[in-house]
Parts: sequence; structure tokens; C-alpha cells
Amino acid sequence: MEGKNMSEKEFQELQKRLASELGATEPTEDDEVIEEMLRHENGAVRPAVRLRNAAPLNVEFIQEPQEEKPQAQPEKEQPEEPAAPVTRGKYEKVTEDGAAASAALSAPKADALLRKPGKYEKITEEQEGYFNPDVPKETASERRKRAKRNAQITRIVIGLAAVFVIGLGAGLIVNTLQSKDNDVTPGGENQPAMSVQTGTDAEGNTVTIPAEDPADEVECNILGINPLESFVAVLEGGTHPLQVSMTTKGTASAGDLQWESSDTAVAEITMDGIIQAVGAGECTITVSAKDDPSVSAEVRCVVRHMEERDGVTYVDDILLLNKTYGVDESYNPGGLTAETQAAFDELRADAMEEGLDIYISSGFRSYYDQDIIYNNYTEIYGWEVSDTFSARPGHSEHQSGLAIDVNTIDDAFADTPEAAWLKEHCADYGFIIRYAADKVDITGYKYEPWHIRYVGKEIAAELTELGISLEEYLGVDSVYAEDWQG
Ligand code: DAL
Ligand code: ZN
Repeated sequence: MEGKNMSEKEFQELQKRLASELGATEPTEDDEVIEEMLRHENGAVRPAVRLRNAAPLNVEFIQEPQEEKPQAQPEKEQPEEPAAPVTRGKYEKVTEDGAAASAALSAPKADALLRKPGKYEKITEEQEGYFNPDVPKETASERRKRAKRNAQITRIVIGLAAVFVIGLGAGLIVNTLQSKDNDVTPGGENQPAMSVQTGTDAEGNTVTIPAEDPADEVECNILGINPLESFVAVLEGGTHPLQVSMTTKGTASAGDLQWESSDTAVAEITMDGIIQAVGAGECTITVSAKDDPSVSAEVRCVVRHMEERDGVTYVDDILLLNKTYGVDESYNPGGLTAETQAAFDELRADAMEEGLDIYISSGFRSYYDQDIIYNNYTEIYGWEVSDTFSARPGHSEHQSGLAIDVNTIDDAFADTPEAAWLKEHCADYGFIIRYAADKVDITGYKYEPWHIRYVGKEIAAELTELGISLEEYLGVDSVYAEDWQG
């Protein structure tokens, strides 16, 4: 490699010129400036440049062969740019002969630079392209143009990013608005936020009624509230969670509802919609949207009184016998109650007039009668299956004298004209079909179209109208406390 020494004078001139180019008023000892000077020395420094050891600086600038590499042209508009061709070089440790060049960099300063190998490594790596001898050296004017171009590119990129962010934000807003219009739950049809109303003026012309100013509208996401039950019975001291479904515009939750009881002496209602029965009576629970109380629904709430008399359970004076509430063998009215018998006689007579034969196949059954029947079943089907259609002794309504099985105790009875007539008219005589097909989970028994229970005309009519079971009407359950012990 061919080398060329630089005299101290040459180096000082170079130092001044480069310091001036870098904006300094006089030669500087600043590390950064010196580094920049070194890079500008002879025009460029190759990536391989190293101050190779920490010995007192004796460096020389060794000119690289220029060969056919393109030369940077001096800027016409920058006359201060040296006209001399750009040269390339690198640092190398030299002997005493090179002392003139090393003097330009004071020994302490150069020494300090030598102790920053990482800094030099970084410079050469980052600017490898810049220092690549195969790449033409930029003039100061070219660098400024490049910087200007870079600045323009940066501004364009920032501008595009800003447009993207603004567009993204606008998209989200539009999407949210669309969601508010489209997201209607649950099950309800999509409902517009505002509908156009039309009417007729005094001359009979159809006119459009202007919509209200949106600013005057009440902000409410709940469009409708639908309680799962319109009637709820709860025993005194008991609780019952009310459930509602909502038709909403956008999002709404249970927290957007408010609850109120018309009579807290009868029942209180929690913020979560749980009825807390206080005293026997009836009240109305109102559930409404917090944002718009005009969006509301009502639930009829009856708090019932339960008591036991002579070993028999009564709820609001209605005798109750089911899987939960039983009687012992001592309870024996001796047959159907007089009211029950009289009501059935009337029913039978009226059915007969229509050519239907409805007769009693099993009326009153004592505790022991039921014990025999149930145990017979358990021997055939086992107690778990038997429990689905036969009452354990002490738990059959037949023991109360209020229940009757008519005609054939067979599923086929359901398809007879007598069964249809019974279902249609039994309430007129004070009876209910006690174990309905759609209440199996509540009553605890399979559908028995032949089993009727006397409750009186008034209650039978109400139960029929509400379409609920006796358990729901009284606010009780029907579950055995334990497995059959045999
Ligand atoms: N079949 C009804 C449930 C009874 O045994 O009383
Ligand atoms: Zn029966």
C-alpha cells in the first residue's frame, strides 16, 4: 500500500478548513469535531480505519490508490469546496518519521480517542456505505441535498402516518356508531335509533312529523325490558332472583337497571333484582332503565304465608302435598272432601251432556294404600324411576281427599276427547291438571293428564290464566329431602 505523509502545516490547514466547514470559528480539540475531521481527512476514511494501538500518536495519512473510482465533482454553487480531488486514506501507526503529522492531534487527545474503540467501531459500521471506497465521496453540497431529501422524506412519512392514524380513528368512530345502530340484543329485531313519524293534517294530507332535536333525546341503550316471569310468589322470609331480558341499542348491562317495590312491607328488592319477601301480601316490583325510567316492566309479587296445622302444610290456606311437603299416616279425611266430590259430580254431569264419560278411577287413597302402590312400583322399576310418576307414602295428594285420577291411568288418555274436554273445562269446576307436561321439572312428576286437583274455582281460574303450576303459584319447590330407604 502506497502511503503519503502529511506535513504539520498541511494538517493544520486541513484542520482549519474542516473546522470551518463544521461551523467552528477556530481549530478545535473537541472529540466530535476531531472525529469529523478525521473522517474528512483527505476526503474520507475507509471502514477499516483503526487507530491501532494506544501508543503516543504517530499517525500518517496513507493515500489509497484511486484507480478507476469515480471522483466527486466540486460543487459549482459551493466555490469554497476544495477543488482538489477527494482522496481516501486510513490511519496507521508510524514511526518517529511521522511525528509531523501526529503533532496535529495532541497526544492526550488522540490518546483519549484511542481509549474509545467502541466509538470508532460504531462510526465505521454505521457509515460503512459512506466510507466504502467503492462509493463516491459526497461533497458538502451533496450532503446538504441528501439531508434536505431525507427531511422531505421524513415529513412525507410523518404526514402519511398522521393521515393513517386520523383515518383509523375516524373508522373506529364510524364503526362504533354503526354498532350502536345494529347491535340489538337479545333476539329483538334491529331497531333504528330514530324513526320517521307521519301523521295527517286537518286537510287530510299526510305530513311528516319532525323528529325531536337529538340533543333533547334521552340517551338510553335499553329499548325494552322483558321479565321472564310476570308473576312471582315467595314465602315470607324467602328470596327470589328476578330475571329479565333486555332489548338494547348498543351495550347495556344489569347495572343499567333499577328496581323498586311498591310496598316494602311486603317485599324489598335489591339493586341486583333479588326479591326479599318481608310479610304476606301483594306488591308490584318495577324494573326500569336508569337512563330512561319510562322504559320499564312490572312483576306481580305475592308473598305467601306458610303454616302447618295438624301435621299438614298450608300456604295461604291452600293444602300442600308434594315431594317436599308430606303428611304422616294419621292424616286421613276418610275419602274425597265434600267440595271435591261435589265439584267432580258437576263436572261429570256436564261432560256427560256432551257425550263424554269422565269417571273416577282412583280418588282418595290412605297412607297405607299409597305405601302398597309405591312399593309395588319400586319392586318393578326401582325407587328412582318410581319417584317420577308415583308419590311416596305420605306425599300423595290422593291422601288429602282433594285429588282424583279419572278414566284410564295411561298416557294414551291424553289423546281422548275426554282428556281434551277435561283440560279445557276442569278449572270451571275448581280443578287443575296438577302435573302438566311443561312443568315436570317443577312438580317433580311426569305429565298426568288424568290427575286433577281441587283448589276451588277462583284459584283454578288464576292458575289457568297464569299458566303456572301449583308450586309456582305458592312459591314452593317439590323435591325429596333424601333417597328412598325402602
Ligand atoms: N301419581 C301421583 C304423583 C301420586 O302418586 O300421587
Ligand atoms: Zn293421581
